[in-house]
Amino acid sequence: MRVNGTHYRTVWLEGSTVRLIDQRRLPFAFEILSLRTYQETAEAIRDMAVRGAGAIGVAAGFGMAQAALAAPDGAVDAALARAASALRATRPTARNLFYAIERIEAVVAGPAAPAAKRARAGEAAQALADEDARAGERIGEIGQPLLPSPASVLTHCNAGWLAFADWGTALAPIYRAHRDGKAVSVFATETRPRAQGARLTAWELAQEGVPCTLIPDTAAGSAMRQGLVNLVLVGADRIAANGDVANKIGTYQLAVLARTHRIPFYVAAPTSTIDLGCPSGDEIPIEQRADDEVVWTEGLTAEGRPARIRISPDGSRVRNWAFDVTPAEYLTGLVTERGVIRAELRAIAELMHA
Ligand code: MRU
Repeated sequence: MRVNGTHYRTVWLEGSTVRLIDQRRLPFAFEILSLRTYQETAEAIRDMAVRGAGAIGVAAGFGMAQAALAAPDGAVDAALARAASALRATRPTARNLFYAIERIEAVVAGPAAPAAKRARAGEAAQALADEDARAGERIGEIGQPLLPSPASVLTHCNAGWLAFADWGTALAPIYRAHRDGKAVSVFATETRPRAQGARLTAWELAQEGVPCTLIPDTAAGSAMRQGLVNLVLVGADRIAANGDVANKIGTYQLAVLARTHRIPFYVAAPTSTIDLGCPSGDEIPIEQRADDEVVWTEGLTAEGRPARIRISPDGSRVRNWAFDVTPAEYLTGLVTERGVIRAELRAIAELMHA
């Protein structure tokens, strides 16, 4: 990703320190956090300093490496087990987090010298980050031809650079098309309650120079009805074996609207988001977050000072599901780093075993 012309990844490892772009501060401040222990990395995931399926997977992999690097000889396995359980407890929905932890566990399993285990954990965590970035780039190449020219794409939440190590998923075909000279513009939904669309998607598209129009979540149907949307492209946090997709709350209603208006609805995700152990969307654990996220909102005052304000009466009853499930039948297709497929059991199984 480019920030003011400089290339960054969303999260990376320097020695035994995890460094990441603090997404709680964007778009108002660009700050890099330094996390010295796996406990600090786990807290950054829980508190969404780093968020997005791929990025939290990469951060979790680095957290495992931190645990191995900090452990004395004779305690590496125990440290990794503690780190795995702390990292698993941070956020339940995105498959990538669990995938990353399982990958590190697999490379350190069995008898080996402590130094070898530390090295393997560090190398595997770095490989995960590189694979995540490469998958995003590839999704960009594979997804780009789906965009007409000119293209007006509606996206939800943030499945861009910031949600992965680099490139992203839903935004990757848009970046690819834009860099290749195709006329592409984006409608970004605000994405209440945490406003990832308003805060992050609008910011990163502006960094890349892609024209972006921000709309309230409530305006998506009207934009489609006016014929302003050619394609809906969103990310995924977990894809079940049958093609049902968990993604940011509000995705399901966009899929229903897209079908009503006969607009193609694609989900872009790396294969690390696919969970063959999860038969359908009904089994995907859906994170519930604090009521405060709905009742309070944050931003800058007219004078440019950070402020947090209440927008609902004291004592309001709240439900804050962070994700919803879109049934596979609503998807036009899945865009992965291995190709575009139909969202159905057999196609997914073939893709995963290819
Ligand atoms: O709660 P978040 O911000 O971590 O949610 C993840 C997301 O940004 C979205 O659901 C996104 O569309 C898929 S993650 C690449």
